[in-house]
Amino acid sequence: MSQMLDFDDNAARALEAMYLTPDVVGQRAKVIEMLSPQPGEHVLDIGVGPGLLAYDLARMVGEGGRLVGLDAAPAMLKVARTRLAASPQAECMEGDAADLRFPDGAFDVAVSTQVHEYVADIDKAVTELHRVLKPGGRTLILDTDWRSIVWHSSDRTRMERVLACWDDHLADPHLPATLGARLRRAGFRVLRVEIVPMFSPQWQPVSYAAGIMKTIRGYAMANGERHGISRDEVQAWYDDQLRLAERGAFFFSVNRYAFLAVR
Ligand SMILES: C[S@@+](CC[C@H](N)C(=O)[O-])C[C@H]1O[C@@H](n2cnc3c(N)ncnc32)[C@H](O)[C@@H]1O
Repeated sequence: MSQMLDFDDNAARALEAMYLTPDVVGQRAKVIEMLSPQPGEHVLDIGVGPGLLAYDLARMVGEGGRLVGLDAAPAMLKVARTRLAASPQAECMEGDAADLRFPDGAFDVAVSTQVHEYVADIDKAVTELHRVLKPGGRTLILDTDWRSIVWHSSDRTRMERVLACWDDHLADPHLPATLGARLRRAGFRVLRVEIVPMFSPQWQPVSYAAGIMKTIRGYAMANGERHGISRDEVQAWYDDQLRLAERGAFFFSVNRYAFLAVR
């Protein structure tokens, strides 16, 4: 059974730090290149999180455009609202990706990065996305497939058990594998699919890998029991990574997948 992450104040702080690392800065540049937002466009950012992508999008659509950041978590909305406070074209609101409270055809662009993997009714969320876009409107959905992970460890079995526990933090840890077909079924034309790697071939203290390692430790400490993993084992897994880092033997790679589609 899935036990999803709680996007509270602590999670918001950790996520913001992780999403300012070079891997995720590069992801946002890729998303913007694929979406090519234009001045005056109306853009919806579903699961706006700390508002880092929304901030760039608001700047690009300008004061003649509109940026709506939607999120289910009040703690994330607080961070996003602070970041977007000086952008009159931007507003943030609480809402659910699977139940968008907007009229049909309200947006030119709808983007959602690292969100749909948390949504239980993914097909409803994709149908909602289609409904709120104008004909010809663009969407970009980006999610991780945790099956793509290559993460070196001194104890492969323990690593597999920790990662099996981590899979539980999402409704679908393998969403990208079915996302293209789901988008087409909802009526979208998929134009481009790109791999966006989170890649640390060696230890970098300020990196997505270093951040997610701490998040996984916290999650597995709280939820490992259901997988028969003790807190001591989780700590041993974490300490092993630090030792590998010291010896120059750290290696981490996982792929996110960005789908650009048109209504
Ligand atoms: C991993 S964060 C990604 C944040 C942001 N999109 C980014 O890439 O920087 C996931 C975000 O999705 C939000 N979220 C999760 N499920 C949601 C849902 N059903 N509807 C709206 N937001 C949701 C969470 O509150 C969180 O802010």
